[in-house]
Amino acid sequence: MKTNFGKMEDKNYKLGKEFFIKKWNDEKIKIHSECVIEACINMSSNTNLNQDIFVIAGWIHDLGRKIDKDSHHVISLDFLKEFLEENTQFIELEKELKDCIVNHRSEGNPETIYGLIFKCADKVALYNNKWLEYKKNKAPCP
Ligand SMILES: [Fe+2]
Repeated sequence: MKTNFGKMEDKNYKLGKEFFIKKWNDEKIKIHSECVIEACINMSSNTNLNQDIFVIAGWIHDLGRKIDKDSHHVISLDFLKEFLEENTQFIELEKELKDCIVNHRSEGNPETIYGLIFKCADKVALYNNKWLEYKKNKAPCP
């Protein structure tokens, strides 16, 4: 998968993005999610890891923030459940998707390599140039 913005447009990337847009479409979290996915894709290039897990988890992991920031990692699991009901082809990835989502915060303890990469990517995303550019222009308060 290509990692330049606008080029990560494979079928499952679009599916995840459409779900995100339908549920929230918050610009800040959209850019953050794109940056998390990009970091995951970069970390997993030339491996046999299933990048669909990163793509789907990337679009869903912060949706819970729409409802509550403190418990968003748990609330996002409800959004995952809904996504999997609509897209049953990903049901076999549920364990890894849950690990990425529920353990992505600093206090999380990922159980799979996917969760480990994802947790790290959530932090790397804060240094992504697109994110820094967005913060500079659109969000003066940290
Ligand atoms: Fe995040």
